[in-house]
Amino acid sequence: MATVNPHKFTGVYTSIDGEYSSLSTKSLVPGTSVYGEKLVKVGQDEYRIWSPRRSKLAAAIRKGLTEMPIQPGSKVLYLGAASGTTVSHCSDIVGQNGVIYAVEFAPRSARDLVQLAAARTNIIPIIEDARHPTRYAPLVSGTIEVIYQDVAQPNQAGILIENLKTFCSFGAWGMLAIKARSIDSTTSLNEVYNKEISELANRGLEIVENIDLEPLEKDHRFIVCRVTEDMT
Ligand SMILES: C[S@@+](CC[C@H](N)C(=O)[O-])C[C@H]1O[C@@H](n2cnc3c(N)ncnc32)[C@H](O)[C@@H]1O
Repeated sequence: MATVNPHKFTGVYTSIDGEYSSLSTKSLVPGTSVYGEKLVKVGQDEYRIWSPRRSKLAAAIRKGLTEMPIQPGSKVLYLGAASGTTVSHCSDIVGQNGVIYAVEFAPRSARDLVQLAAARTNIIPIIEDARHPTRYAPLVSGTIEVIYQDVAQPNQAGILIENLKTFCSFGAWGMLAIKARSIDSTTSLNEVYNKEISELANRGLEIVENIDLEPLEKDHRFIVCRVTEDMT
């Protein structure tokens, strides 16, 4: 029988089943598997297994993330939500007092995201292009504390900076999964990562974490950064 213990990050859990240990989140909507993930019932609570092979945030935690800005009650802007795999775990973590504004522009994925949001009232789906934050700014209310970005586009740092400028102030966090091969397929991985990271640092963002996601995600870096000066 599985046991579940709190992880050092509030809202994240470690499930132990025999010799296997997995990350999990406590489900906001018990009885529902979002993308086929395993459900573990402990007493009245249900936990959803969170695989680092399905989610770069879970991979970053597995690879030693030390700062986890997404916490119970957080107000998050999530860029590149796809069908909502990672968004659903973030929704579990932030709980009913938090909110995830989830931006996705591909119609097929957006349909799944809208369905997910129907069952989870802390997800606000936004069918828009993350490169144009002013278009969806009217849909976002209050201050955003964390922007999570996983859009697999050229100029990932630039997209994060534009969104931080639009929605965030001093002390806000940026989390960025850099996919090197979407940015440049010829230059070395390190050159691609360093260029994106320098762009963030040159805008005054403090680089708090820089995690290589190999072998869980090929050619990906996970960056956590923080707004330390006025970005306008
Ligand atoms: C790697 S997938 C995201 C996976 C997701 N973050 C997860 O962990 O569940 C990248 C997504 O970003 C979306 N995307 C790419 N460029 C975008 C843009 N400019 N605006 C909004 N979504 C974008 C793609 O359609 C795709 O669904």
